[in-house]
Order: sequence, then structure tokens, then C-alpha cells
Amino acid sequence: MKALILSGGHGTRLRPLTYSQQKQLIPVANKPVLFYAIEDVINAGIHEVGIIVGPNSEQVKKTVLSREWDADIEFIYQGEPKGLAHAILVAGEFLGDDNFVMYLGDNILREGIAEHLEYFKKGNFDASILLQEVPNPRQFGVAELSKDGKTIKRLVEKPEIPPSNLALVGIYFFKPVIHEAVADIKPSWRNELEITDAIQWLIDHGYKVGWTKVTGWWKDTGKPEDILDANRLILDDIRTDIKIMTKARIHGRAVIGEDTEIDGNTVIKGPVVIGKNCRIKNSYIGPYTSIGDNVVIENTEIEDSIILEGSEIRNAGRIVESLIGRGVKIINGTSHPFGRKLVIGDNSKLIL
Ligand code: G1P
Repeated sequence: MKALILSGGHGTRLRPLTYSQQKQLIPVANKPVLFYAIEDVINAGIHEVGIIVGPNSEQVKKTVLSREWDADIEFIYQGEPKGLAHAILVAGEFLGDDNFVMYLGDNILREGIAEHLEYFKKGNFDASILLQEVPNPRQFGVAELSKDGKTIKRLVEKPEIPPSNLALVGIYFFKPVIHEAVADIKPSWRNELEITDAIQWLIDHGYKVGWTKVTGWWKDTGKPEDILDANRLILDDIRTDIKIMTKARIHGRAVIGEDTEIDGNTVIKGPVVIGKNCRIKNSYIGPYTSIGDNVVIENTEIEDSIILEGSEIRNAGRIVESLIGRGVKIINGTSHPFGRKLVIGDNSKLIL
């Protein structure tokens, strides 16, 4: 069994962050989203991992290789992001004749894949997919089940009129017959080789396609609000018994990195994760906040937000539900003329 984890694509819905950073590297609770997928496949006993890389391939390689993994990791370059089924075509040599799990690197699944993998193996399926009921099925691939609910009748990608509220999670198990399917299907209206079409090909050719339901939470972190939501869900589960040397009032669970200084006028209400070497002064850090390394926060209230490394926030009032990139400065200046002085990148969003 191998794993193919996808970490390419342009991540347009996460601009401006994705102008300088591959979307799967955006941290949730101070850990790149991609790492959750790698950990998940390793925890399920898979130790041969191929990672599909695209526009920011060097950044992805460097970040992944900055840690040791209990797996052999190979990077596979996908020139243009031409669809999820195209990624399987590109990875043909790596995958060979082995069964594999394809895992979209922007998906986080709390319960892990081990039980779903077990179902795929035991049932001797040609493919098996994961489904979850969602309130907004138009944004996903959607499955229509047979009347008895046992088999999958049809899969549709982002349908106008969804046949059900069962969304396809971005995790799929395949036998090598999928290579025949991806070689035979045609690009969709958006000029991509869709994985839903490849699985539909298996169904239409009489292959056995199974499905399991996701019972815990699952997040596709494609949009800023999804990243903030994933951050809340992960922080809900963090545990810490570290005693921190600080005069700050800390309530609830807070993970605080080495060499971070927090002064006595600061109040922290967990769950919160704060990185290494930060300076936090006279501020309030509220629940569901993740702060990266080397961040400075002074005279500011921050809650329910993600602040990436190296940012500096001073006298900024109250910040909520925000996703702030690397090296950002938010400073309430005191020099004339007063007013908001902005140097803002393309596609930034400010709600003042
Ligand atoms: C992709 C798939 C879709 C699936 C989703 C899950 O969509 O095409 O079928 O439901 O992942 O994350 P994307 O997120 O690339 O729009």
C-alpha cells in the first residue's frame, strides 16, 4: 500500500496568502495542513509516500524535509494542475502496481484513515471513497446512492442541483485498475481530469466501489473561513501540562513555545497555541488563536485568529476571526496626518 498526497495547485481562494505560500503549507494550530495528511497515512501503517508538487515545489520539499518522517518520501512534479485524476497519471511510475490511498493535502480528517483503509482491504474493493453529510453539497463532489444505500450509483462534481447531501471527502482508496480509468476519461468543462469521472468510469465498467461514512469532523481547508474552522477544531483537542514561567494570567489550555516572553499585564484564555521567541505585552489573547514563531503583539486584543510567523501587531485594537500572513505589520501610529495608512497586497481583505 502506498500513499499519494497532493500538494500542488494555485490555491486562488486563499489569496493573498497563496501568492507567496503553497496553500497546503498554511499552518493550522502552528502545523502545516499538509503535515496532518502525512501523519495520518503513516499512522495507518503506510510508509511509502509520494507527494505531488506544483507551483511552489521547492517550498513544499523544504518544509516536508525539515522534519523526520517514518516513511520514504518521494516528490512528484505535476507541471500544470490539470485535475486530481491527472495527478494519478503523473504519478504512474511511483504507484506501479500497488494499491494506494490518494489524499488531498488540504484535507484534515480527525478520526484518521485507519478504519476506512481496513474496510477497503476487507471488502476487496477496486476503489473506496469517504462520504460526509454537508449543508453545502454544491461546493463538493456529491454521491448518489442506490435505493438500499449499499452501493454508489453516481458521482457528480460540484453539481448545480445536488442529488444528495453526501460530499466526497478528499481521500480515496484505489486498486491499480484506476490507471485504466484515468487514461480513458476526457477533461471536464473546466478542462480538468476529474477524479469523480474516473471513479464513475469504474462504476460504469462494473468494478466494485465501496464507501464509508465519516463520523468525526472533516475539513477541506480551501477557503479562509475553513482554515479558521479547522484551527478551532484542532485547538479544541490540544492538551498541555507544561508549566510556563510567566506572570501573565493564563486560563485554560495554552501551548507556549521556547523563549517566548509574556508580560504580567497580558491575559491568555485558551485554547491557544503560541510559537517560539514571541514577545507579548499588555495584550489579550483569546480562545482559538494560533500565533506562529517570532511574533510581537503589544497593546492589542486578538481572538479566534491565526497569525503567521514574524508578524508585528501594536496598538491595533481588537482583532477577531482573522488570518494574518507572515511578516505583516499592523500598527496604530501616532504621527500626523492621522488616518489609516495601508500597504496592502493584491486580493487582501480588510473589514474595518
Ligand atoms: C476536490 C474534489 C471534490 C471533493 C473535494 C474534497 O474539490 O474535486 O470532489 O469533494 O476536493 O475536499 P476541490 O477542493 O479541489 O474544489
